[in-house]
Amino acid sequence: MKKVRIHHFAEMKARGEKITMLTAYDYATAKAFDAAGVDMLLVGDSMGDNVLGMDSTVPLELDEMIPFARAVARGADRAFVVADLPFGTYEVSAEQAVASSIRMMKLSGAQAIKFEGGRRIAAQVKAVTDAGIPFCGHLGFTPQSENALGGHRVQGRGEQGLQDLIADALALQEAGAFAVVLEMVVDGAARAVTEALDIPTIGIGAGSGTDGQVLVWLDALGVGDWHPKFSRQFAAVGQAMTDGAARYVAAVKGEEFPAAEHTFDS
Ligand code: KIV
Repeated sequence: MKKVRIHHFAEMKARGEKITMLTAYDYATAKAFDAAGVDMLLVGDSMGDNVLGMDSTVPLELDEMIPFARAVARGADRAFVVADLPFGTYEVSAEQAVASSIRMMKLSGAQAIKFEGGRRIAAQVKAVTDAGIPFCGHLGFTPQSENALGGHRVQGRGEQGLQDLIADALALQEAGAFAVVLEMVVDGAARAVTEALDIPTIGIGAGSGTDGQVLVWLDALGVGDWHPKFSRQFAAVGQAMTDGAARYVAAVKGEEFPAAEHTFDS
């Protein structure tokens, strides 16, 4: 088992090997995905809604994320761990972005930082990468800007949408990003961005033309009742948990658990 390192992603793009990424928010899940051979684990700010029950990613704080990122980093022997910076922790200035990135890197043990935006945050990305911190971009539908974008809307439509996306992606590459996530982008635009960049693109709802794919693990493995059109359910973990918990309840109520083999002799 060879540890995945930053240069491996460019090598994978060059040889046409798809990059795999899943979100993870805790130690046990990180260990399971690491053992499955997932290349990158994303401690996404999607934990705001998926784990902490918030209405969106917007209220999440940096210091709320750090213990989760630290747990994922502890569980990842092989996978490369990327941690999101939440809304409000990088937009103000390059200094703010560097300070937040350093705090996340030092306290979590993640190997890279991701935050959202293109040309408007290129100065922040340059400052972060100049500080020696690997950076992954995030373009297309950017959930932290959900209010400004008018909801969950597919991006990259029309000639202007395409040109904006390419200009944003090139700005991130120029600022030192090692990869860019493309979320909810029309297939043709995601392919055009992928061709325009030397660094890999990782799609979520961006078709099959990107260099890799990322999914929120609860969507991918069937936990919860939110099934985005672009995701596939690769397992029914939520149902397995409910069934297992129901068997436990029945066994305790029926006084068949614990049995003799679970009991310590005096
Ligand atoms: O926070 C997250 O889970 C993400 C993915 C949707 C890419 O940013």
